[in-house]
Amino acid sequence: MSARMTKLRVIKFTKDFLLASRILQVFMPINRLFGFVYHFNLLTSWVHKHKKDKMLMNDFYRPVRNYDDRYLSFKKLVDHYKLNEMPVSYLEFGVAHGHSMKWWLQHCGNPASRFYGFDTFEGLPEDWGLFSKGDMLSAIPEVNDNRAVFIKGIFQDTLNNFLEETVPSIKGTKKVIHMDADLFSATLFALSQLYPHLQKGDIVMFDEFNVYNHEFNAFRLFTECFYVKLKPVSAQNNFYHAAFEVE
Ligand SMILES: C[S@@+](CC[C@H](N)C(=O)[O-])C[C@H]1O[C@@H](n2cnc3c(N)ncnc32)[C@H](O)[C@@H]1O
Repeated sequence: MSARMTKLRVIKFTKDFLLASRILQVFMPINRLFGFVYHFNLLTSWVHKHKKDKMLMNDFYRPVRNYDDRYLSFKKLVDHYKLNEMPVSYLEFGVAHGHSMKWWLQHCGNPASRFYGFDTFEGLPEDWGLFSKGDMLSAIPEVNDNRAVFIKGIFQDTLNNFLEETVPSIKGTKKVIHMDADLFSATLFALSQLYPHLQKGDIVMFDEFNVYNHEFNAFRLFTECFYVKLKPVSAQNNFYHAAFEVE
């Protein structure tokens, strides 16, 4: 028997034994700790690999965060990519009261641009960290701009119909995708459905990128499983907010 076959036998025997004996379940009380260490280390490795990449802006490391600095990043992106001049398709996943949606409407003035805001408008569909299901409840925001459309419901119910109906009309325009649903499930779902429609040069932003087990985890699995290359172009608040260009 070759060395490889022997190794495979040992691996298989060990795994079957662990499965049948349930011996690793003695660690169940500290399972979350293992998960935290594993995922946080992946995030740390990613950040340190990319912290010196050439970007429009990157404030890593700063000791004190200012959430509103994400607007500095938005402005840099608008100026650099001339998003105010060209027709863009802005898709925001997680709208709530519409703070970021309104910013983008105000700063991308091309009349042919379109803005699509997806949200349950009934709050988070599941718990997220210290937030509970139903938190962030908000009414559909009033924006007074007929370029904006809001799509109410969970992405898992609404996104595919939307893409079927709308993709033909936005094909060819630069897409600016803003992932701000906070949740791993929602972020991974939306990215994976958007995958066939992504084009080189599209922008993908994450509002809570460095949350190791949610948006970062979704980003990591999406880029690894779909072989998508997203180049970091802007990072704020120690990569809490991060923007990427599709390569
Ligand atoms: C942090 S808030 C969005 C904040 C907003 N972009 C801003 O800058 O003011 C997150 C929103 O994501 C929405 N959300 C999370 N998961 C969702 C899902 N699977 N489907 C629809 N909406 C979802 C929640 O309802 C919540 O309103």
